[in-house]
Amino acid sequence: MTTPTDAPLAIDDLRARRAGGRFGACIEYFASIDSTNTVAERLARAGAAEGTVVIADAQTQGRGRLGRSWVSPPNRNLYLSLVLRPSLVPELAPQLALVAGVATVEAVADWVPRATLKWPNDVLIDGRKVAGLLAEMGMEGDRLAHVIVGIGVNLNLRIDELPAELRDKAGSLYAAGGVPIDRVGFIDRLLTRLQERYDLFLRQGFTALRSLWEARTEVIGRLVCIDDAQRRYEGRVVGLDDDGALLLRDAGGRESRVVAGDVTVVGGYDPS
Ligand code: BTN
Repeated sequence: MTTPTDAPLAIDDLRARRAGGRFGACIEYFASIDSTNTVAERLARAGAAEGTVVIADAQTQGRGRLGRSWVSPPNRNLYLSLVLRPSLVPELAPQLALVAGVATVEAVADWVPRATLKWPNDVLIDGRKVAGLLAEMGMEGDRLAHVIVGIGVNLNLRIDELPAELRDKAGSLYAAGGVPIDRVGFIDRLLTRLQERYDLFLRQGFTALRSLWEARTEVIGRLVCIDDAQRRYEGRVVGLDDDGALLLRDAGGRESRVVAGDVTVVGGYDPS
C-alpha cells in the first residue's frame, strides 16, 4: 500500500477547477474549524449564494446525525458543507439529504465501484461506513430560506487512525482500495455530481431520484430493524416512498413508513 500524503488540501487547484461553475465557484477554506455546517449556516444567514461551499482540513466539533459527533482528523478526509436555496416547501427539504446521498455514492463509486447506500444516506464499502450526510434547514418565518448539506467522506484515513470503537464499523476509500485518493479530484467530481443530481431533483422531483437511490442500495428485500426516538420497527425493506421515507413490510404483511432512525440489517450484510 502506498501511504497517502499528509499535505493540506491544494485549495488553489480546487478553486481553479471550480471557477465558472455553480457549486464551488465560491469556496471558503479553513485549515481547522469547529464544524463546516456551523460556518456554512452562518454564511447562509449573512446572504451567501447558492452553491457556496465550506471546506475544512480538520474539524474540532464535527457533527453527525442523531446528535452524534463526526471524527475529523486533519488532512486525510473531506469535510464539506454546501449552501442550497431551493424554492421548496419545508416538508420537501429532507429529500435533499437523499439527493445528496445519491451524488455522494456515485462519486465514491467512481473510485470504489462496490460502494452502496444504507438508508437514509450512509455510504458503505464492504459494510463499513465511509461517508455520512447531515442536512440542516434554515427557516425565515414559515419559509425555507436555505438548506446546508454537510458531507463527510473518509478518503485517506487508515483504520488504525480511528477511535478503537469505530475500527470494525468505519472505513475509507484508501483502506478499501489500497491506493491514496487525490482529494482535489474527488471533491471536484463530488461537486459536479451534486449539481447534476440537485438539478434533476428540481426539474423532476424526488421520483426521478428514487430509482437511482434504490439501484445503489443493498437493503431492499433485507430484514431490518430500525430504532427511532419513539419505537422500534422490524420488517423487510420494500423500497422508498415518494418522499424518501423507507417502506417496510412486517411478517403479517403490514406496511410501515419510517422517516428517521438507524437501520440495522438483521444477520448483517452478508449472511451465510
Ligand atoms: C452522519 O452522522 O452520518 C453524518 C455525518 C456528517 C459529517 C459532515 S463532515 C462535514 C459537515 N460538518 C459537520 O459538522 N458535519 C458534516
